[in-house]
Amino acid sequence: MGKFQVISHPLIQHKLSILRRKNTSTKDFRELVNEIAMLMGYEVLRDLPLEDVEIETPITTTVQKQLAGKKLAIVPILRAGIGMVDGLLSLVPAAKVGHIGMYRNEETLQPVEYLVKLPEDIDHRHIFVVDPMLATGGSAVMAIETLKKRGASNIKFVALVAAPEGVKVLQEAHPDIDIYTAALDERLDEKGYIVPGLGDAGDRLFGTK
Ligand code: PRP
Ligand code: URA
Repeated sequence: MGKFQVISHPLIQHKLSILRRKNTSTKDFRELVNEIAMLMGYEVLRDLPLEDVEIETPITTTVQKQLAGKKLAIVPILRAGIGMVDGLLSLVPAAKVGHIGMYRNEETLQPVEYLVKLPEDIDHRHIFVVDPMLATGGSAVMAIETLKKRGASNIKFVALVAAPEGVKVLQEAHPDIDIYTAALDERLDEKGYIVPGLGDAGDRLFGTK
């Protein structure tokens, strides 16, 4: 079974509480999603491999560490996942970005895929799928299926808020992937919204409602 980790740094908890407030503006919401994604990035990227490199300091020659050039891809689930991309790119600016477009059918809560645009060598990349909300888990499961069908195998999923129901569904469907979230909330309501949650992440991020 992959790792399940709640990244509960005090700065993340503080920013997440502001994000959850219903009166937080679209501008602040957008900035906070990016900031939290960046802070989570320190933990999510912890396993990046290092290699030795010989360097010269002003004093001497020494062998130190550098990133081993692992190929990375950040894959946001549209729309709301887009909000997390810049925060992670600020840590790994050379990462490629793929997009998977998906929305939930409001009646059935089943995800509907409408766009897949990925780096050509996605099967050789270490992939970080990002979406602020892991609710029923349907969107995450389908996005990861889409990636696996294209040969991807090294996948981590990063959410800001997760429901226990969604974590279970995702772990059962894809036991090999690591899941990171900034908060594990109580439950889903009858409309599939996370409680207490933060509402509709896409609408709040883009100001569409
Ligand atoms: C939201 C969210 C996730 C999905 C999570 O997207 O960004 O992708 O719901 O729900 P699930 O775990 O039950 O699948 P939404 O369908 O609202 O689309 P949008 O981002 O385009 O608004
Ligand atoms: N999608 C959202 O944007 N919010 C939820 O609470 C559940 C799914």
